[in-house]
Amino acid sequence: MKKKISIAIDGPSAAGKSTIAKMVAKKENFIYIDTGAMYRSVAFYCIKNHIDLNDEQAVEQAISNIQIRLTADNKVYLNDEDVSLQIRTDEVSLGASCVSKYQAVRTFLVDEQRKMAETGNVILDGRDIGTVVLPHADLKIYQIASVETRAKRRYKERGLEADLETIKKEIEQRDYQDMHRAISPLKKADDAIELDTSNMTLEEVVDQVLTLINKTREE
Ligand code: DC
Repeated sequence: MKKKISIAIDGPSAAGKSTIAKMVAKKENFIYIDTGAMYRSVAFYCIKNHIDLNDEQAVEQAISNIQIRLTADNKVYLNDEDVSLQIRTDEVSLGASCVSKYQAVRTFLVDEQRKMAETGNVILDGRDIGTVVLPHADLKIYQIASVETRAKRRYKERGLEADLETIKKEIEQRDYQDMHRAISPLKKADDAIELDTSNMTLEEVVDQVLTLINKTREE
C-alpha cells in the first residue's frame, strides 16, 4: 500500500493554488482542503450579519456561531447553508484577508484544519499550511507567479466587465496584507519547494507536482 502523505501548498492570492490542488487531489485520490474558503466563510458571515470586520472583538464573538463544512465535491457550507459561490466576491476576498489577521480566527480555523488533515492523503492550500498548520507536511510547495500573470489569469476568468488595473491593485493589496500581518504572515517555509508558474501551463504545473509527490513517496 502507498504511504499516506500530506501536502501543503502555500503562496499569494490568485497564483492558481486551488486549481492545481484540486487537479492533483482528483488524480491521486486525495482529500482537498481549501483553507482560504474557511477564512472567506468567516468574513461572509460577518458581512451578512453587519459585523464590522475591523472590530476584532465583534469578529471574535461571532466565531462561536460559525460552523464550516467542506465536502468532497468542493462545496462550502456555512451553518448548513451552501455558500460556495457567495464567498467568491471581491468584497469577501478583501474581507477574508482582513479577518485572517485576528488570532482568535486563526486559532479556530487552524484547529479545524488540523483535525480535517488527520486522515492523511490530504492536500491543503493556503498561506500558513507549511509554516503553521502542518509544519511536518511530507511535501511543501510554495507556488508563486508574477502579479501581471496572476492579474491576467483573473481577468480572463471574469470576462468583459473586469478591469485589469483594478484586479492588479486588489491582488497587490491582498499580497501586502497577507505578507505583513503580525500573526502567521504568508511566507515560504524553509523546507518548501518554490514553484514559479508564471510561464507554465496548468498541465505543466500538475505534472511537476505529481513528480514531486512520487519523489516524496520514495523517500
Ligand atoms: O486563498 P484565498 O484567496 O481563498 O484566501 C482568502 C484570504 O484568506 C487570504 O487573502 C488570506 C486568508 N488566508 C489565510 O490567512 N490563511 C490561509 N491558510 C488561507 C487563507
